[in-house]
Amino acid sequence: MSELNSGLSVSKYFGRRLVELVDLPVGARVLDVGFGLGSSLFPAAQQVGPKGQVIGIDIDEERVEKTAAFILERETENAQVLRMDVLQMSFEDDFFDFMLGGFIVPYLFKPNTQQIAPEVCRVLKRGGRVGFTTWDYIEDDDRMIAALKEELPSEIEGRNLSVYTSYPVHELEVSFSEAGFEDVTHLREVAEFVYPDIEKWWSAVQYQSWIRCYKEIESRGPGELERFKEATYRKLKDQESSEFRFKVSVDFFFGLFE
Ligand SMILES: C[S@@+](CC[C@H](N)C(=O)[O-])C[C@H]1O[C@@H](n2cnc3c(N)ncnc32)[C@H](O)[C@@H]1O
Repeated sequence: MSELNSGLSVSKYFGRRLVELVDLPVGARVLDVGFGLGSSLFPAAQQVGPKGQVIGIDIDEERVEKTAAFILERETENAQVLRMDVLQMSFEDDFFDFMLGGFIVPYLFKPNTQQIAPEVCRVLKRGGRVGFTTWDYIEDDDRMIAALKEELPSEIEGRNLSVYTSYPVHELEVSFSEAGFEDVTHLREVAEFVYPDIEKWWSAVQYQSWIRCYKEIESRGPGELERFKEATYRKLKDQESSEFRFKVSVDFFFGLFE
């Protein structure tokens, strides 16, 4: 059976689940790799408490700026974000107790290989633990992408809008083991998301993966974004009601660095 989430974004839900399942202790020093907009960073900061510390890194300047503003707004004093590439980090060796990464697995590999980059292990203490998520499937992803594409202005049309790549579980387990992780475990969870109306849907997705497309649409003129939202939602929602619902299945990987 899957958990039903009303109005919550997929990233926020699985970011929180990642932190719950990793079971961070109070006072831990945590690295959140590719924090995006903080879906695991904020729950982690809350979990480790004022004596703990969460540092998020992301390569995308815009996400760093936006999340830094959220940190100030929410007065999350034990969290900070930096613009940094996971393949080239400026932290000392053995600096972190934990590493989290929501949907960032492809970026952890050495370029053009399936090998976990040595940087990932360098910054973790011996006995440090990691928790990562990857997509298994998003129900109806093709239909969602098709609906978006039909409504996108033609200059945006050609882009790859799919948010996920799914990895064979066994291959990832092997990659983590070969990098020096022990007790590598995998867990799969399915959750169902329901948006009762267009506004609930929009508030869950507006900062997410297609953010740049939205901005470009907005810049085309007054009313353009509203038109896009309405036309897209009409295609996504149930024909009988105003509700849009779908399931997402996610793989969690945990490991101990020895
Ligand atoms: C799919 S998003 C996931 C965001 C967030 N962890 C979540 O679960 O919602 C992947 C993130 O990884 C970041 N990223 C991509 N390559 C990176 C790299 N080499 N170093 C650090 N961050 C990277 C992207 O900018 C993006 O914010």
